[in-house]
Amino acid sequence: MSGASTVTRLIDQEAIRHRVEELAEAIAGTITGELTIVVLLKGSFMFAADLVRALDRRGLAPRVEFMRLSSYGLGKESSGLVRLIGDHPEGVAGREVLLVDDIQDTGRTLSVAQNMLLGLGARRVWTCVLLDKPSRREVDFAADFVGFEIEDVFVVGYGIDFAEAYRHLPYIGTVDR
Ligand code: IMP
Ligand code: MG
Repeated sequence: MSGASTVTRLIDQEAIRHRVEELAEAIAGTITGELTIVVLLKGSFMFAADLVRALDRRGLAPRVEFMRLSSYGLGKESSGLVRLIGDHPEGVAGREVLLVDDIQDTGRTLSVAQNMLLGLGARRVWTCVLLDKPSRREVDFAADFVGFEIEDVFVVGYGIDFAEAYRHLPYIGTVDR
């Protein structure tokens, strides 16, 4: 899409690649037992694809499930409502679950998703986000594994969109808020 917004690079591909390996190392060293990864769509698809391959290199063989929650409309501000779109993920009951999301902002999405998965019988729900904006937090929630802490800027790329554009970018950049 060619719009009025310009994208300024914030985190390049090499930094992402390196950090994903470190996250996989930390996850592999922490989670034991039968693992199901629940990927929150759509924003974390690229991150999750890289993360599961990094976990494979460390001998993990997770089941991979997907869950779609909606909290954002087409704008840049959260509606404050989080709801499930489509079916619940399977293979959660009695297992260790790693919930993977792109960004932790207010914290509502991860908190709601974690409760849903516990309600489906997960033994424990770990959380992993590529990006964290701690200054934006509105509910008390800290992810177990965090790629990068960033300021309160609106980011796109590496799976993350603005009005469905920019997901394809291999790096993370900022657009004017
Ligand atoms: P939370 O429920 O407020 O923590 O919102 C998390 C979700 O908001 C993320 O999964 C993203 O979909 C979206 N989001 C938060 N910040 C950004 C951003 O800077 N760019 C694009 N989406 C964002
Ligand atoms: Mg999202």
